[in-house]
Amino acid sequence: MIALGCDHGGYPLMKEVIKYLEDEGIEYKNFGTYSEESCDYPIFAKAVAKAIVTNECEKGILICGTGIGISITANKFKGVRAALCHDCFSAKATREHNNANILAMGARVVGAGLAIEIVKNFLETPFSNDERHIRRINMIED
Ligand code: RB5
Repeated sequence: MIALGCDHGGYPLMKEVIKYLEDEGIEYKNFGTYSEESCDYPIFAKAVAKAIVTNECEKGILICGTGIGISITANKFKGVRAALCHDCFSAKATREHNNANILAMGARVVGAGLAIEIVKNFLETPFSNDERHIRRINMIED
């Protein structure tokens, strides 16, 4: 189950992401927002981060205007590893190396075509399970 969250700035791109997930038959839980009416991104970042730390959802996707505010907020939760990615290499590498559990993007930074490729890379790439990466991830939590 993929947890989704965005603010008004991220909403147009989130609609595209939802269309992709539905086309692929990927299950998601949408924590809002649900329109382009101005709102506060921490509300939605916190809802998605909580869904991850409680294991309600295994991964999350967060979108705001830049992806920055929403990722900063999510990363305040212990156990959340939110990666702000605007290219496919980073999306793949953060799964392999960081076992990132939330993908953050900025709707004012990337177009929908690239964003969907980033989502695909993020969702389809497994964690490497390499000892050195496990050690480093554990060090984040110390
Ligand atoms: C909203 O205008 C904008 O500040 C927000 O979407 C995000 O970019 C914050 O980091």
